Amino acid sequence: MDAHSSVFGNYSTINSPKTQCYALKPVAFSSSKHVLLRTHLSFPSNIAITEKRLRIRASVEEVHSEIVGPNVLEDSVKAKVRRKNLAVFVSGGGSNFKSLHEATVNGFIHGDISVLITNKPDCGGAEFARDKGIPVILFPKVKDGSVLSSKDLVNAIRSYKVDFIVLAGYLKLIPTELIQAFPRSILNIHPSLLPAFGGKGYYGMKVHKAVIASGARYSGPTIHYVDEEYDRGRILAQRIVPVLPNDTAEELAARVLHQEHKLYKEVVAALCEERIIWREDGVPLIQCKENLSVYK
Ligand code: GRF
Repeated sequence: MDAHSSVFGNYSTINSPKTQCYALKPVAFSSSKHVLLRTHLSFPSNIAITEKRLRIRASVEEVHSEIVGPNVLEDSVKAKVRRKNLAVFVSGGGSNFKSLHEATVNGFIHGDISVLITNKPDCGGAEFARDKGIPVILFPKVKDGSVLSSKDLVNAIRSYKVDFIVLAGYLKLIPTELIQAFPRSILNIHPSLLPAFGGKGYYGMKVHKAVIASGARYSGPTIHYVDEEYDRGRILAQRIVPVLPNDTAEELAARVLHQEHKLYKEVVAALCEERIIWREDGVPLIQCKENLSVYK
């Protein structure tokens, strides 16, 4: 175990055959171990952080705790945790939706996509859903002029016994009725490190152009809970992607999207396995699959 210190605080790295872990030294002790997580990470420059999974431990003592083998845990999760029903919202090509769908089919996600909601009936995501036999709901407007109210939408989604709602490139604001009907159950993915480059007007290539123009050296996807404001709900997960000196917006977008697919799958898997806990100040944390007392 190597110990490092930096202006941000102290941490240790633990090398195991599969992973590298970061153990935070708490800056202050408290009766609640969740409070101990209020400190910052810095990364040694020689670590390829974009490809590593960080394992934030609640206390130094837990560093030595035994790691449960993934296979044992997966079997026990499937035995104990009910398979979840997901609703996905898309407006575009739906590459995140397709990647999530594949993860439900191959067993990585302990859940099924029960319904797709879109405002664009001919978008790639909607076509893919129809092809896979997933029901498609048009919201907010149906082509023939009839309008699905927010209440109708809530009822329609409930009729599929949906546990969680996943937004994957849906460009319309989610109605308040839906947010209230599914508290702490709606996730969105945004292609920048929120709270930077988020909010109204920051979507698609505009996000990546703004990141490049700002001179930021890092970008990457953020997955957050959805509330009534664009891109302002609690952050659940992020992944860092470098911004290269000669990047075009398209090149940066492709690099970020690649990480979006990986991150969304991991986060939705955690959601379906009930591995999300809420810190006392309202910040959601993901419990590591290998050891539930480790958070990321
Ligand atoms: C992604 O970049 C996502 O971050 C944003 O919308 C885009 C959707 O892309 N919310 P795709 O339709 O999943 O390819």
